[in-house]
Amino acid sequence: MLICRTERPGDGDEIDELVCAAFGREQEGDLVWALREQGAISMSQVAEYEDAIIGHLLMSPILIEGEDTGWLALAPISVWPECQRQGIASALIIAALDCANELDWAGVVLLGDPEFYGRFGFKPAQDLGLSLKSEAASTGEILLAMAFKPPVAKGRVTYHPAFG
Ligand SMILES: CC(C)(COP(=O)(O)OP(=O)(O)OC[C@H]1O[C@@H](n2cnc3c(N)ncnc32)[C@H](O)[C@@H]1OP(=O)(O)O)[C@@H](O)C(=O)NCCC(=O)NCCS
Repeated sequence: MLICRTERPGDGDEIDELVCAAFGREQEGDLVWALREQGAISMSQVAEYEDAIIGHLLMSPILIEGEDTGWLALAPISVWPECQRQGIASALIIAALDCANELDWAGVVLLGDPEFYGRFGFKPAQDLGLSLKSEAASTGEILLAMAFKPPVAKGRVTYHPAFG
């Protein structure tokens, strides 16, 4: 059975292996370590199947117009290559959004494909008055947002410095 749960102490190395395998490089794995070392992980969820971690999702705090207003960024999200296209990322995203809402976070942004993330209720962030200094327009990924509670903070979004 697939279980979505919070990262536990000792999971770090397995998560690192998974993130590097999913992205096919070490950059995103290093990002996860950097966020962990800097105490900038607001939520870290893993998908576990038969005691193996096969999916991982991380949320870190963002600033809006330089203010901490309780919004989070969802990134990165990783699924073990052999396990992709079986709904594991979707299960993680749904569980993490429920958790963020329950924990009273204000909202979540991410850079991604509007069609895929629209399935979970994400909308273009500009509809909520949120923007990024630079977006990866060439990849078709845009800043998307989901607000859990009004009033919605507006303005320029800044990711944690570990994102570089
Ligand atoms: C992106 C990723 C996490 C998706 O994991 P997954 O478990 O395969 O996702 P799901 O099975 O829940 O959903 C798959 C569906 O969403 C679509 N999808 C998933 N990621 C997508 C993306 N980035 N853009 C467009 N569509 C995407 C797929 O086309 C697929 O749809 P289909 O099966 O109807 O064709 C996984 O492919 C991965 O780890 N990729 C490498 C790391 C990465 O690029 N992460 C995202 C950026 S942080």
